[in-house]
Amino acid sequence: MALARLGILIGRRGRGSNMVAIAEACATGSIPAEVVVVVTPALETPAAQAALAMGLHVEVADPELPSYSSDLVQALQGNGCDYICLAGFMRLLPHAVLEAFPDRVVNVHPALLPAFGGKGMYGMHVHRAVIESGAKETGCTIHLVNEHYDEGRILLQRPCVVDSDDTPETLAERVLKVEHEAYPAALAQLIKENGS
Ligand code: GAR
Repeated sequence: MALARLGILIGRRGRGSNMVAIAEACATGSIPAEVVVVVTPALETPAAQAALAMGLHVEVADPELPSYSSDLVQALQGNGCDYICLAGFMRLLPHAVLEAFPDRVVNVHPALLPAFGGKGMYGMHVHRAVIESGAKETGCTIHLVNEHYDEGRILLQRPCVVDSDDTPETLAERVLKVEHEAYPAALAQLIKENGS
């Protein structure tokens, strides 16, 4: 079976740890895919530098430019992507990308959706809300992306505990470890489901 071609989109706040987990899982063969492009807002970001250090092909699309959505589509189509993985991408994805890759855009969210999802719920905001709610369990969700925040079909969820003395930072760290296993597993499952 030919390897699926993955494009990874990283936002301004993305650190690239899920990108590294996905690229490593491709390298070891646990995802039957290869990362063909990483698209970042600037080359100076830590995520872009980590991608370059892994020998990945990096392209820049600047969200401040009016051409942003067509720049994204061009970078992804130009590299022949089959799937798009959002990793640390906090904004609503331009519609043109969803149109170009229907049912092929995947996101990781740091909670068990539909809980703690929606507009404004990203990164540390999510972990703070989980702790404030008194929830004893959280986790991560890997889901397909549609035009609404955090509402596409759920592919995989993995739980983890919330400790009574957790801070948003300690909880974020625990959830991130779970994400690093769940994201590659969900991608492998989706690629198998689609036949490539
Ligand atoms: C991850 O925890 C991911 O779930 C979250 O941002 C972090 C990115 O980490 N994404 C969202 O909140 C999207 N709504 P990374 O850049 O190290 O992969």
